[in-house]
Amino acid sequence: MTTEQTLIIGANSDIGKAIAAQIQTSENTDLILISRGLANSNLVASETIKAKVTTITVANYQPESIEKAIEQLVQYNHAPITRVFVCNGILHSQNIKPEKRLEDFDAQAFIDVITSNSLTPMLWIQKLTPLLTGKSPCKFVLFSARVGSISDNRLGGWYSYRASKAALNMMVKTAAIELARRAKNIKLIAFHPGTTDTPLSKPFQKNVPANKLFTAEFVAKQLLAIVEETPLDQTASYLDWQGDTINW
Ligand SMILES: NC(=O)c1ccc[n+]([C@@H]2O[C@H](COP(=O)([O-])OP(=O)(O)OC[C@H]3O[C@@H](n4cnc5c(N)ncnc54)[C@H](OP(=O)(O)O)[C@@H]3O)[C@@H](O)[C@H]2O)c1
Repeated sequence: MTTEQTLIIGANSDIGKAIAAQIQTSENTDLILISRGLANSNLVASETIKAKVTTITVANYQPESIEKAIEQLVQYNHAPITRVFVCNGILHSQNIKPEKRLEDFDAQAFIDVITSNSLTPMLWIQKLTPLLTGKSPCKFVLFSARVGSISDNRLGGWYSYRASKAALNMMVKTAAIELARRAKNIKLIAFHPGTTDTPLSKPFQKNVPANKLFTAEFVAKQLLAIVEETPLDQTASYLDWQGDTINW
């Protein structure tokens, strides 16, 4: 019987899958994966598995679907959830391209990007908090990006993606202030994985030097170590893949 559970949301993310695979082979922790659909999962073969895996499928990330997922999650509440990874995020799609200049800005694309990158993670913070509040420490990681740092913005461009990650960062900072009063066991971390070789970064890898383009496996390993080392201190952290603090 395991004594801890780890929750990975948006678990079809390449980085999310790498986190799951790593936990599966190395930890005696139950794993709960939430996704609209796990495709080409690289979860490992059963004989090498240590962690038990449960999958919850959501129709989408609207509030009602998230509430339904939480209802299912409550049924697996035999051990505290000590880590949460919210991987949701989009940069481009068939209809969305990161903007190079003002003329590229599109109202509907902005709404779609801010919905998946800021609203969805915020809903998970809101709706999971009652379940996570208690005595067991819980490290709650939200995938952000360095381009969401307002103080670091020297290059410009990517209006919607930058704004959506900056908005996410503000949600994380604001929630941490409230949780410091009412859920001292929860630590919120906004995380920048670095440019990682996943579908999200594929069209933008051309100018990235080979040693700056990480594998999802490398980032997962870094992140799991960072989560382990980061103390519960009732403040939000904004950390990169090396564990270094990024200025908000
Ligand atoms: N790769 C990079 O270079 C890089 C750099 C900086 C930050 N990040 C951030 O890291 C996180 C993980 O990205 P990844 O590189 O692993 O990308 P990925 O493989 O493309 O994963 C995409 C993620 O976004 C979710 N998603 C897709 N469409 C969505 C929608 N309409 N609404 C809500 N969620 C949606 C997916 O959830 P399902 O499981 O439901 O499909 C999945 O969790 C993202 O937040 C991204 O912004 C990545």
